[in-house]
Amino acid sequence: MQVDVMPDALWQRVSEFVAQSTGLHFPAERQPDLQRGLASAAAEFGFADGVSCADWLLSAPLTRPQLHALASHLTVGETYFFRERKAFDALAAHILPELLRRRRGREQRLRLWSAACSTGEEAYSLAILVQQLLPDWRDWEVTILATDINERFLRKAVAGVYGEWSFRESPSEFKERYFIRASDGRFTVAPEIRECVRFAHMNLAQDGFSSSTINTGSMDIIFCRNVLIYFTPAHARKLVENLRHSLVDEGWLVVSPSECSQALFSQFVAVNFPASILYRKGSPEERGLLNLAPRSCGTPAESTATAFDPPQPSVIALANAAAPEKPPAMPEQVLPAETESSQPFSLQARTLANQGRHADALVWCERWIAANKIDAAAHYVHATVLQEMGEREAARRSLQRAVYLQPDFALAHFVLGNFARADARTTEAERHFLNTLYVLRDSSPDALLPESDGLTAGRLVEIITTLLAQTDSADSSGGAPK
Ligand SMILES: C[S@@+](CC[C@H](N)C(=O)[O-])C[C@H]1O[C@@H](n2cnc3c(N)ncnc32)[C@H](O)[C@@H]1O
Repeated sequence: MQVDVMPDALWQRVSEFVAQSTGLHFPAERQPDLQRGLASAAAEFGFADGVSCADWLLSAPLTRPQLHALASHLTVGETYFFRERKAFDALAAHILPELLRRRRGREQRLRLWSAACSTGEEAYSLAILVQQLLPDWRDWEVTILATDINERFLRKAVAGVYGEWSFRESPSEFKERYFIRASDGRFTVAPEIRECVRFAHMNLAQDGFSSSTINTGSMDIIFCRNVLIYFTPAHARKLVENLRHSLVDEGWLVVSPSECSQALFSQFVAVNFPASILYRKGSPEERGLLNLAPRSCGTPAESTATAFDPPQPSVIALANAAAPEKPPAMPEQVLPAETESSQPFSLQARTLANQGRHADALVWCERWIAANKIDAAAHYVHATVLQEMGEREAARRSLQRAVYLQPDFALAHFVLGNFARADARTTEAERHFLNTLYVLRDSSPDALLPESDGLTAGRLVEIITTLLAQTDSADSSGGAPK
């Protein structure tokens, strides 16, 4: 794939066009991503390079299928089952039991929406959770709607067949219980889970929200995670407003921890759960109060946040993150000189990352790197935090630094491979995976990998072998790997 340098004026116009039609934001620092996406779209639309493709995009109105095809080259589909687990825990422990209790015996219905569902793991995770909490779900009207702009992702979601990597944060019994193992080592979603989920195409930046797909004021819970970060501020505001209208009174909006923002969600009530904040559409009375006193960006969270429990450290542990006796305070509060010298930067960075406090973790990663520029682990943890914040390109650069500093850093090679694979850069992905296998060639299968939170060398070799086999079969069938 050829990626040509695009004249500034053309790049400017094409990024505006993309923002207007898909909501996707390609500021200057993401120019290489947009150019790569256009170069890849050029092949599909029959142009020699990204520049001629960009010229064509700007010259004629696109049909809907063409717009969808373009979007599929510009979107990032990273996802997995029970990603950012704490939000699911809040649903399971607090929100759903209360909602189901109120509805039981009256209006036995439940409507959930995974907006920007990518390849479907989030929607199926919701279906599994609902069935766990609601054994008599068949007596209820349960709808789990899952939508995305990328038709390729949706096709994979509908097929419901997943490799090991989609289960990277799930306990092993989860696969046995809700999936059927296929002969190629992958897993197919069990029919009763699939039955609850309905997939549909939807462009969150454009499509009407009161269409036949979404009725105004009908959704109990909306998951819209890891997509707002890719939107222009104006499209993000509009989308949040549309999502609010789609919720029932007192319905819930769930975004990624890195997307929480008082300014953007000022029309919601922010509610603290352990290690996550979820947004509730207020009752009409509460909304009246919110409207009377709209909060600005700088208003403290306590003014409207309702505490269920104080935030606690996440159980999704980053490697080697020994839990401190008590959770550290925000960096601003723990920065006096004596604390800084007594607390290792790495511990602070890892603990904050575990708690989902990514912006704070980032600050500590940067201090850690400043203190020891050649510590490959510092760059690796930095990359992990950046990735969680949606800063993929910066994360990739940090990973490259990690493998430069420590060429036998297996996990860093592996994650670079996954980045390339998620972007459909198959040859590059294969090269990183083969590097990982090379680095691991003399490791004992039981050896624990540094920074891996308990992953063994043998297990990683198995995972990579499966991924490489999938790439081979996708290549031979002409399909695109995820
Ligand atoms: C990183 S994935 C997030 C998947 C899942 N929500 C999660 O958090 O794991 C982002 C998804 O947003 C989708 N997306 C991007 N722009 C969109 C738009 N304008 N309308 C609908 N979906 C969009 C992409 O296709 C991609 O599947």
